[in-house]
Amino acid sequence: MPVTDLPDFPWDSLAEAKATACRHPGGLVDLSVGTPVDPTPQILQDALSAAADAPGYPQVWGTPALREAVSSWFAVRRNAPGVDPDGVLPTIGSKEFVAWLPTLLGLGHGDVVGFPEVAYPTYDVGARIAGADPQPATGLLQYGPKAPRLLWLNTPGNPHGQVLPVSHLAKVVDWARNRGVIVASDECYAELDWRADPDGLTTPSILDERVCGGSHEGLLAVYSLSKQSNLAGYRAAFAAGDPQLISRLVGVRKHAGMIVPWPVQRVIEAAVTDVTHVAEQRARYAARRTRLRGALEAAGWRIDHSEAGLYLWATQGKPCRASVDDLAQLGVLAAPGDFYGAAGAQHVRIALTATDERIAAAAARLGA
Ligand SMILES: Cc1ncc(COP(=O)(O)O)c(C=O)c1O
Repeated sequence: MPVTDLPDFPWDSLAEAKATACRHPGGLVDLSVGTPVDPTPQILQDALSAAADAPGYPQVWGTPALREAVSSWFAVRRNAPGVDPDGVLPTIGSKEFVAWLPTLLGLGHGDVVGFPEVAYPTYDVGARIAGADPQPATGLLQYGPKAPRLLWLNTPGNPHGQVLPVSHLAKVVDWARNRGVIVASDECYAELDWRADPDGLTTPSILDERVCGGSHEGLLAVYSLSKQSNLAGYRAAFAAGDPQLISRLVGVRKHAGMIVPWPVQRVIEAAVTDVTHVAEQRARYAARRTRLRGALEAAGWRIDHSEAGLYLWATQGKPCRASVDDLAQLGVLAAPGDFYGAAGAQHVRIALTATDERIAAAAARLGA
């Protein structure tokens, strides 16, 4: 793998804006990254402590109890009954899985990995690590006669919070099945859907019966507990779907030592079984979102999409770096939209992952 082929880590380019923002007398409000700041729920800390005695190697595939619990979560929360527990795999956070999936599937030179035009950068990185051909696209037609071997979807999308409806997902699955394309859907903000009238309990999953007709062949849903459960520090995530694909991945991951630690496996099981802590965290983010969105709109910003997830995709109708500088003058750090592809050049991504106090400070500085 030519390591030089990997892009620079984009946050390095924010150093100057960060220095400006830090000089604000009220201190920095860092809304440039989506790292949770609220405490890990006690029930999950307890699950971790209770599993502290772990002398033996854990199972790469995850314990049967974990896999059953994830399968139930898909049935209860995602309208996806029938997820085979054999088709569940715990992962060391989902970024790891996104970055390595093309390699673990054996993709390489000449294989296309598709992903959205405005996207979380790791889909591109994963294709490059495998030596495959990363191809962002606004729609499936753009792929022409050469279909990707692997197609990434991201719903709700990072950075813009767009939710893909059931009808869209169903079309993608149909298209992919006709061409033997594996579809991996990164759904890590699914429990944080702000629409008043969502077409389901949470953002629709690729494994939703209405999307895939009950067959999970060629499909993987990728989910993270970092956001909904404040577990980013634990690296707790999972993939689920086609048992044959999962079994292939388990085979390689065993050789590569890609194992979720046993105490974290127990935490994953606890997290997907308890809905209360998720509802509490969701309410915190909803309040922050209302406050910040109102302040931005009152200050003349337009918010696009952002119907789910942890970000406001905001624009002043001018280049994103100029908007980053405007916010830095207020002591607020945001991520420029060009981090996520050229089509994001007029937007900034403003995260909701700050304390109530910091969100209130940002709102006040915007004039609200
Ligand atoms: C779309 C998307 N996928 C995956 C991840 C990675 O999450 P984690 O590695 O914490 O599970 C993130 C994190 O921000 C994300 O936004």
